[in-house]
Amino acid sequence: MKVAIVGAGYVGLVSGACFAELGNNVICVDNDDKKVSSLKRLKIPIYEPGLEELIKKNVRLGKLSFTTNVAQAVRSSTVVFIAVGTPPKENGEADLTGIENVARSIARAMNSYRLIVEKSTVPVETGQWVKHTIEINKKKGIPFDVASNPEFLREGSAIGDFFNPDRIVIGVESEKAESVLRELYSGIDAKILVTDIKSAELIKHASNSFLALKISFINAVSKICEMAGADVERVAEGMGLDRRIGRSFLNAGIGFGGFCLPKDLDAFINISKKLGYSFELLEAVKKVNDLQKEDFIRKIESNLWNIKDKTIAVLGLAFKPDTDDMRFAPSIDIINTLQKHGAKIRVFDPKAMGRARKIFKGVTFCRDVYEAARSSDCLIVITEWSEFKQIDFKKLKKLLKHPLIVDGRNIYDPQKLKRLGFKYISIGR
Ligand code: UGA
Repeated sequence: MKVAIVGAGYVGLVSGACFAELGNNVICVDNDDKKVSSLKRLKIPIYEPGLEELIKKNVRLGKLSFTTNVAQAVRSSTVVFIAVGTPPKENGEADLTGIENVARSIARAMNSYRLIVEKSTVPVETGQWVKHTIEINKKKGIPFDVASNPEFLREGSAIGDFFNPDRIVIGVESEKAESVLRELYSGIDAKILVTDIKSAELIKHASNSFLALKISFINAVSKICEMAGADVERVAEGMGLDRRIGRSFLNAGIGFGGFCLPKDLDAFINISKKLGYSFELLEAVKKVNDLQKEDFIRKIESNLWNIKDKTIAVLGLAFKPDTDDMRFAPSIDIINTLQKHGAKIRVFDPKAMGRARKIFKGVTFCRDVYEAARSSDCLIVITEWSEFKQIDFKKLKKLLKHPLIVDGRNIYDPQKLKRLGFKYISIGR
């Protein structure tokens, strides 16, 4: 099939490469000249395991190409995905101007039937506006369909998620749109759920908000565990064995970050309010998430006495492992607060150092865990990269000024660290 994807960001690029891998002819469009020209030179703007290989392979096979020209891409494709960003406005509402502009450009370029598919995460009722925008901007008599096909990829495992999804959701208004999308996904063995467009849009916001709720729930339980002397890891295990609950997304820590969960939670609260419902439950999810970061700072402070002039080694900056994405990473608030309190910060992250250099000022960027730990008063874990789980504790102990570890992701065994002579503080245990 001939597919155009407008927006070569995270979702667009991964989906484009994967649709090409499935045997389609894909053209990815972006209005960022620099990004497109580096993609043409096979320079990939983000780190995502497996993505570079997939892009290179499919470009060489002639299945994947890049352009800044929306009209050219629309004319040469039957299915056009909209995968541009929907960043948060100051009030938390999703900014949909990018979607409107793209819908207008697609409409103006259409010369025969096109299926226009929303892939960006959008509030319910956006489909109606996309349809209206295309209707008023296209040439008379040209048929089209609009559909919603929300994306459930996780950063760090996006390629695997694309080829092995739990479900594929398609929101459609016509049999033709349904059959085009079914054919496009025919190479993937997964349940396809067909709904109306509004329900598909809602599935995405409701899913991400529910995942955020699960995380905040276990984080709130972690507080009770600390107060009562229980172990949140055991509690999560026991809860998770109930198939109705499930163990995933019950990892207590410093709270959720990234460009999806916080933004989608805000956007969902916002659209609910607009529709007349005050989603207090989700307001509480946000509040618990903020408290979790504050509490982490309190833990550091209560073990260092004064933070001022202390050196703190930070392991991990990206919002989660296996990505270099720093957007809404908990590390940003935590490091900024520690600096405000007068701490000196030494950091290491396996992939996010380049992006982090543009965000943090007055921070020492280190080559590895051990260089970060050298002469530090305390070591804190913010991102659970697997390489941090295999560190040489004896070496670490010699390098640190004091053997103090405050772990925001519960990656170490408290008994083991105690035996090795560390003071080890973690979350909810
Ligand atoms: C999330 C969803 O998981 C995807 O299904 C969705 O497609 C994506 O948003 C999106 O809307 O594009 P992602 O943001 O890549 O994916 O990352 P997650 O794996 O969901 O993690 C989000 C945050 O929650 C991270 O900061 C992570 O550290 C935190 N988290 C996750 C926890 O604190 N505890 C957990 O148990 C799980």
